[in-house]
Amino acid sequence: MSYPYQIKTYEEYKDAYRKSVDQPEEFWAEIAESFQWKEKWNKVLESDFRTANTKWFLNAKLNITENCIDRHLYNLGDQPAIIWEPNNPKEKSRTITYNDLYVKVNEFAQVLINNGVKKGDRVCIYMGMVPELPVAMLACARIGAIHSVIFGGFSAQSIADRLQDTQAELIVTCDGAFRGNKEIGLKTLIDNALVACKFVKTVIVLTRTHIPVSMIKGRDLWWEDEIAKVQENEHTFVAPVAVDAEDPLFILYTSGSTGKPKGVVHATAGYMIFAAYTFVNIFQYKQGDVHFCTADIGWITGHTYIVYGVLCAGGTSLLYEGIPNFPDASRLWDIIDKHNVTILYTAPTTIRSLMAFGLEPLKGKKLNSLKVLGTVGEPINEEAWHWYNENIGKGKCPIVDTWWQTETGGAMITNLAGITSSKPGYATLPMPGVQLVLVDEQGKEIEGNDVSGNLCITQPWPSIIRTTYNDHERCRTNYFAIYDNMYFTGDGCYRDENGFYRITGRVDDVLNVSGHRIGTAEVENAINMHSGVIESAVVGYPHELKGQGIYAYVIMEHIHDNKHETKLDILQTVTRIIGPIAKPDKVQFVTGLPKTRSGKIMRRILRKIAEGELNSLGDTSTLLDPAIVEEIKNGRL
Ligand code: PRX
Repeated sequence: MSYPYQIKTYEEYKDAYRKSVDQPEEFWAEIAESFQWKEKWNKVLESDFRTANTKWFLNAKLNITENCIDRHLYNLGDQPAIIWEPNNPKEKSRTITYNDLYVKVNEFAQVLINNGVKKGDRVCIYMGMVPELPVAMLACARIGAIHSVIFGGFSAQSIADRLQDTQAELIVTCDGAFRGNKEIGLKTLIDNALVACKFVKTVIVLTRTHIPVSMIKGRDLWWEDEIAKVQENEHTFVAPVAVDAEDPLFILYTSGSTGKPKGVVHATAGYMIFAAYTFVNIFQYKQGDVHFCTADIGWITGHTYIVYGVLCAGGTSLLYEGIPNFPDASRLWDIIDKHNVTILYTAPTTIRSLMAFGLEPLKGKKLNSLKVLGTVGEPINEEAWHWYNENIGKGKCPIVDTWWQTETGGAMITNLAGITSSKPGYATLPMPGVQLVLVDEQGKEIEGNDVSGNLCITQPWPSIIRTTYNDHERCRTNYFAIYDNMYFTGDGCYRDENGFYRITGRVDDVLNVSGHRIGTAEVENAINMHSGVIESAVVGYPHELKGQGIYAYVIMEHIHDNKHETKLDILQTVTRIIGPIAKPDKVQFVTGLPKTRSGKIMRRILRKIAEGELNSLGDTSTLLDPAIVEEIKNGRL
C-alpha cells in the first residue's frame, strides 16, 4: 500500500504545513480522497469554537472497518495485521492476517447483532491485551455501535461510573487477564460493577486465564459459544453499516480537574483520517514494517497507534499482553528480536524503569531490526532520551517525541522520523493542520521565541474532541471557554529560540503518573470515602520513575496509633474506588490545610512542600492559619 500523503522531505513537511494553514479544507479533502467512502462529503468543515462545535466532511458516509480491513484484503490479505505476543514467553505468539481479522470481525459483529446491538448503541469493553479486544472494537464499528474501552486497571466502582454514563447494555470482557505474574479477575470486577448497573443485559466473556467465574443465566454468555453459533453458517458476512462522518466512533473516559472522568467522544471520519495520516508520517511507516506500541488499548495511545491508525494504513501492529519487566527486564528486547520490530513506541516511564536495570538485560540482544523509536505520554528527561538513543536505537534510529491528548485523537506536536529534527526533551514542531499559540493567564498571545505560556490551539483539526458524552456544556467550559476562540490543552509549554516546542507539564489539577492521567480531585474524593478522613488535598511531585508521584495530605478524625495501618487502609480505599493506578505514593497526616480566608486550599504551597522547595513558599500571611504551614513543613515525608 502506498500513501500519497506521506511526507518524504523537510521541504515537503514545510509545504504541507503551509498548505494546511492557508487552505485547510483543500488540504484535508485531498488526504481524505485516499480513504474509502460510501458517500462523499458536501462540505469539508464547519466549526465554531465558541460553542465547541466542529464538524468535518459533512454528510459523508463511511464505515471505518472497510478502511481498516476490507480494502486491504486484495493486496494485503495474507499480511499480518496483528502479531500477538502473550504475557508468558513460553506460550505461543499468534499472527492474525488481514484475512483472519476480516473473518473474526465479521463473526463477532454477527454475535453483537444476535445479541440485539444496533447502530448508535454503546458497548463497553473491559478486556486484557488480547487480539479479541481490537476484534471487539472493530466489530462494534462494523455495525455502527459506539465502543467504550475501559482500562483493565480500573476498579469495579470506576467501571460502574462509566457504565452508568454510557448506559451500555452489553459488555465484552474476559474471565481474567495475565499481567506479569498476576492474574486479574476481570469478570469478577464486572460482576461487582453490575450490582449497581441493572440496565446491563448481556455480558460476553472470552476465555483467557481459565480462572473460575460466575456465569449468570440470562445475562452472561461465553464468547466461544456465541462464535460457534455464528460459525454454523459458513462465511459470515456482516455488511459494514454506513455511518455519518460525524457519528461517534468511540467514547473514551479521561480525567479532568473535577472529580468525575469525562467521556471524550471522537467522530468517525475525522478521527480515522488524522489517525492514519499521523501514523504514516510520524513513524514513516513503510510496508513490511512491524509497529510495536507498548501502550494499553484502554488509553487513547492504544486506540490510535495499536488499532485504528495502523490498520487503516494496512500496517502490522504488534500487540503485547504483558509488562516490560516480566519475566525479566529483557522482555521488550526479546520481543523486538523475535518479531523483527521496526518501530518501538513507548512511554518515558517505561524507558526509565528499564534503565534502572542497567545494561545487563540488553546483553546478546540484537535490536538491529529497529528503525524508529518513539515516546509519548509525558515529558522525557534528557538522561532517558540519551539512554534510549544509545542503547536501544544504537544512535541510528530517530526518536519521535509525540505530544498529544485523549481529546486530540492523534499526535499534534512531534518530529517526523528522519524528516524533521529532533531535540531531546522537545516534541518540536506541530503536525500539518495544527496551529499552536502560547498565551498568558489572560489569554493574550505570547509572540516570538524563547517564551513560555499556556498551550492553545486556534484552528480545528480533523480528530478534535466533538463533545463530552452526555454533557456538551462540560466540553465547552473545559476546553473552549477558558480562552476566547481557542482550544486550551491544560499544558504549559516553552518555545525555544528555533520555534521548537517543549511541553513543561499540566497547569491544571491533573497529574501524569507513569503516563496515566489522574485528576487530583478524583483521588481526593476517593480518599475522603475512607470513614476516618475529614478532608484531604492531593498534589503531584517529581518522581524518578513515574514522572510524577501522588502526595496526599490527609486530615483524620482521630490519628490512629498505627499510622502505617491507617495509610494502608487509605490506599485500599483508593484502590477500591478508582483502581491501583491512583494510589498515593505518600500520605502525610496533618491537622489542617493551608486555606485562604474564603476557604480555598492553597495547592501551590502544598505542591512546593511536596517538591521539597520549603524556602520558596511565597506569601503565607493571607492564610486563615499561617501556622499550619510550619506544621506541614515539619512533617514532610
Ligand atoms: O500533559 C500532557 C501529557 O499527557 C497529557 C495527555 O494525557 P492523555 O490524554 O492520557 O494522553 C496521553 C497520550 C497521548 C498531555 O496533556 N503528554 C502527552 N504526551 C506528551 C505529554 N507531555 C510531554 N510530552 C509528550 N510527548
